Order: sequence, then structure tokens, then C-alpha cells
Amino acid sequence: MDNRTNTIAGWVLGAGIIALGASIVTGELFHGERPETMGYPIEGVVEEGAGAAEAEKPIAFYLASADAAAGAQVFKKCAACHTINQGGANGVGPNLWASMGKPMAHVPGFPYSDALKSKGLSWDWETMNHWVQSPKELVPGTKMTFAGLSKPEDRANLLAYLNSQGSNLPVPPPPAAEGNPAEIAAEEADAPAAGDKATDVPVPTEAQAAKQPEGNVGGEGAPAVTGTSKQERH
Ligand code: HEC
Repeated sequence: MDNRTNTIAGWVLGAGIIALGASIVTGELFHGERPETMGYPIEGVVEEGAGAAEAEKPIAFYLASADAAAGAQVFKKCAACHTINQGGANGVGPNLWASMGKPMAHVPGFPYSDALKSKGLSWDWETMNHWVQSPKELVPGTKMTFAGLSKPEDRANLLAYLNSQGSNLPVPPPPAAEGNPAEIAAEEADAPAAGDKATDVPVPTEAQAAKQPEGNVGGEGAPAVTGTSKQERH
């Protein structure tokens, strides 16, 4: 009796040891190393615009391809409070005919906030861009309760539309290079002509360097993704 109990216990123990051993062995066999870089690079695919995740570009960049007709659509968000036709009535906000280029708070008889009256800026491209992005960031204390437009393309289109309504400010030239393929190409073509000693030394410009994700798209070694401009503003 005693003997049998021991035998059974022995078998049970033995089976346990074998099972444990087996699980250790298979664990070793099938243990997958987590790759350092997830995903796999696709040969010959260059990440579009390398800087796509970069901070927002200056508004002039977007203005270069802005569309006033699309801006008229965006203006629908403003039309609850603003007219923009010549001689249009003031509503919750002042009439906006020919406002681009004018000093702030220029519409006679509109009860502007002291904040806007005392800001002392004019509605140039930069200022208007900042305003429609975040009125209360540009002018703390403004009465314009509009959250703002986060997409730079929407703002550029809207600004082009505003400018077409009674104003005609010259559109600022787009900023040089940075992500504009045509201009980068032109720069590269220019480089040897610029005629420094170093024409045969391959020193990449910042733009060129940014164009080379080293075959590792979006993985380690790819350009770091910094936050959006929205996040940076906090
Ligand atoms: C909820 C109503 C409301 C909406 C929506 C609104 N605004 Fe306004 N807006 C105002 C008010 C009120 C003022 C006056 C602000 C002050 O005095 O501080 C104003 C002022 C302005 C001014 C200054 C005009 C001047 O004479 O200096 C501009 C430019 C302007 N708004 C553009 C826009 C645009 C563009 C949009 C759409 C993206 C928009 N607003 C949406 C209410 C609004």
C-alpha cells in the first residue's frame, strides 16, 4: 500500500518534471525576439515629403496654393456673425469688406472690445492667420467667440477669400525650399554654379538630408516626429 502510494507519487512528480522541461524547451524554441524596428522598410518608397509630420509651415507656404473659392466655403463658419459684402451691415461682428490690410477695429460705430481696439496691429497675412487660428490667443479678451480653424489649408483659403473681398494685398512669396520639391531641385541645380571649392564634396543640405530616410520608413532613424504646432502652443 505504502509502496504503491510512493510509486504513484513518483509518476506524478516525474510527469510534472517532464512537462516543465518540455515547456522550457519549446519556450526556447519558439521564443521570438521582438525586432528592434517594427514593420519592414519597403525598397524604393520614399516617405512623402519627409517633413510631413513636421511643425506647421509658415502661412505663406499654404497661401502659394490657396484657393479663394474654397475659402468662400470656409467663410460660412464666419457668416453667422459677419457680412463681407461692401456696405454690409454689422452683425454680432463687424462687416468684413476690405478688412485685409486695414488696422484692427477700423469699422466705424462697431462696439469693439477694448482688447481689440488697443492691440494696435493691422490685418496683414500673418496677423489674420493667427486670428482665425485662435482669436483669443492673438487678442486675449476679444469678444469674438470663435474657437479657430486648425487646418492651415483652410486658413490659407479663407485668407485668400478675405483678400479677394475688397482688399488686394500682394500674396507673400512662399518660403524658400523646405519641402517644396521644385525649389529643392532648383537649389540642387544651382549648387555647383554657386561655385565654392566644395562642389565635389557631398555635403547634403538640410533639405537633402531630410529627403533620405535611409530605407527605414517611419522606424528608428527616421526623422523624429515632433508634436504638432497645436501641441507646442500649450
Ligand atoms: C460668434 C460670432 C463670430 C464668429 C463665428 C466669427 N466672428 Fe469675427 N468677430 C466677432 C466679434 C464679436 C468681433 C469683434 C471682436 C472684438 O471687438 O474683440 C469680431 C471681429 C472680427 C475681425 C476684426 C475686424 C476689425 O474690424 O478689426 C475679423 C477680421 C474677424 N472677426 C474675422 C472673422 C472670420 C474670418 C471668422 C470666421 C473664421 C469670424 N470672424 C468668425 C464675432 C464672430
